[in-house]
Amino acid sequence: MNWASRIFLGATAALLAAAPAAASDGKAVWDKSCAGCHAMMAPKTSDKAAWAPFVKLGADQVTAVVMKGKGMMPPKGNAASEADVRAAVEYILGQMK
Ligand code: HEC
Repeated sequence: MNWASRIFLGATAALLAAAPAAASDGKAVWDKSCAGCHAMMAPKTSDKAAWAPFVKLGADQVTAVVMKGKGMMPPKGNAASEADVRAAVEYILGQMK
């Protein structure tokens, strides 16, 4: 095996190991990408009542809104991917039920 294919295999293994963890850990995504703003801006992480309409709306709709961005919220809410946004939304909606 030459050095180039070793590097390629090493990089692929690292990507495979990193991807599922990043996409599935909603709490980690929320804490890293969303919580900074939503500690101060509505709907606040601490304000269950403010989240009630979004819990009703469901994760599909809420993910779509965050993917587009709204007002001061940037598209994807600064998360890395749609899978991350979705995981964060599912996490926070679960917390607010
Ligand atoms: C730069 C700050 C910022 C970041 C980062 C951010 N948000 Fe927001 N978010 C806002 C603001 C401000 C609003 C209110 C938007 C408005 O109503 O004009 C909002 C609104 C929302 C709403 C309500 C949308 C609606 O229909 O009214 C949801 C749900 C939400 N954010 C989820 C998230 C998630 C999930 C993340 C992380 C992936 C995130 N936000 C990251 C600032 C942020």
